[in-house]
Amino acid sequence: EEAGAARPFRQRLLVVANRLPVSAVRRGEDSWSLDISAGGLVSALLGVKEFEARWIGWAGVNVPDEIGQKALTKALAEKRCIPVFLDEEIVHQYYNGYCNNILWPLFHYLGLPQEDRLATTRSFQSQFAAYKKANQMFADVVNAHYEEGDVVWCHDYHLMYLPECLKKYNTKMKVGWFLHTPFPSSEIHRTLPSRYELLRSVLAADLVGFHTYDYARHFVSACTRILGLEGTPEGVEDQGKLTRVAAFPIGIDSDRFIRALELPQVQEHIKELKERFSGRKVMLGVDRLDMIKGIPQKLLAFEKFLEENPYWRDKVVLLQIAVPTRTDVPEYQKLTSQVHEIVGRINGRFGTLTAVPIHHLDCSLDFHALCALYAVTEAKKGVLILSEFAGAAQSLGAGAILVNPWNITEVAASIGQALNMPAEEREKRHCHNFHHVTEHTAQEWAETFVSELNDTVVEAQLRTSK
Ligand code: G6P
Repeated sequence: EEAGAARPFRQRLLVVANRLPVSAVRRGEDSWSLDISAGGLVSALLGVKEFEARWIGWAGVNVPDEIGQKALTKALAEKRCIPVFLDEEIVHQYYNGYCNNILWPLFHYLGLPQEDRLATTRSFQSQFAAYKKANQMFADVVNAHYEEGDVVWCHDYHLMYLPECLKKYNTKMKVGWFLHTPFPSSEIHRTLPSRYELLRSVLAADLVGFHTYDYARHFVSACTRILGLEGTPEGVEDQGKLTRVAAFPIGIDSDRFIRALELPQVQEHIKELKERFSGRKVMLGVDRLDMIKGIPQKLLAFEKFLEENPYWRDKVVLLQIAVPTRTDVPEYQKLTSQVHEIVGRINGRFGTLTAVPIHHLDCSLDFHALCALYAVTEAKKGVLILSEFAGAAQSLGAGAILVNPWNITEVAASIGQALNMPAEEREKRHCHNFHHVTEHTAQEWAETFVSELNDTVVEAQLRTSK
């Protein structure tokens, strides 16, 4: 570097998400250890490096005392993370209640909770109040750390009320909001009692992003049909103010995976796994244990496949990593028992004294163990079986076998198709997806979003100054 050369400008970015990329575990009055959090949002955002980024979010733990809060704030600062402290009651109403029992199922087309209507309405109101309160608490922390010129990037369905809170503090703040789930058809969104407020608040952002073009289109339709606003090719217009709406398909940090494969401990692990499962084809599923991931459907399809294809019974094994999540929400507890029951039945039916068809793990694996597992299924150019309803189907569809997960017969057939696929076709499909994943990384996704946000703000300034 030339002497005196200016350091390249790095955009300061405040990433605001419900969950920080690290979750805290208390070890003593003032000591904490930090683990990487699970979930798609965190794995994508960990790949975002080109910014001077700070994270603002919840550390996943209740810290009622000041000593604990101070110590945790200090430990998190080393990771460039800033905590928002939420007490148990708020977490219960905002996170378990409004976010995970109402918005999450609704956005995945499971509808609103079906209990007694009156009870639902009452709890709905208090949960929505807690949601707004929690969003305001996030806004306070953002505002306290905001510096002029920062880009504030809000993430996900937990923080739909945040853009409005932030703009109330400072209309000049550059605010983007990105949704990591589907945005449903307006016919579904309009069943939500707080449908207006959430849309209005999101529209306070300068740029609103979705994973796919369809989700963006659904959002614009919801704004036109529910709020009566005008949808344009750029986004949504309200009395001359344009909120830009667009699709930004997310990616992963592919280099991190590729580099990990070169590590001796990963190579060693791959060798062990190959020996352990030699003579059998390995199928791998990695999902948070969530009802929208279709784990029971996958297991039922595998059962049907084994039923109909006795030849494969001792030649294939399914490794299902089911990362526990939202364990305080009753729906998730029910799902865990349901999955255990199905796995037990299938292993009872098709297992032998020496081998079982399914290895089901209720845990999250560390990154290197996960890489070794992927490598074992990929070594011979593994085939991806993907739900056509997953956002990724729009980017990886050409290389994958796309299925309707509700159609067990179709999924069972896809397992057969994958296992019997000629090497040449597997390689072709694999190559297609490998190319896509290494070209469209998390880093590229973030850079595109942030530069679009900067441009949007400049354009808006030009429009108003005319
Ligand atoms: C999904 C959501 C994320 C969330 C993750 C893990 O990917 O879009 O916002 O963080 O699931 O869920 P959790 O409730 O444990 O944060």
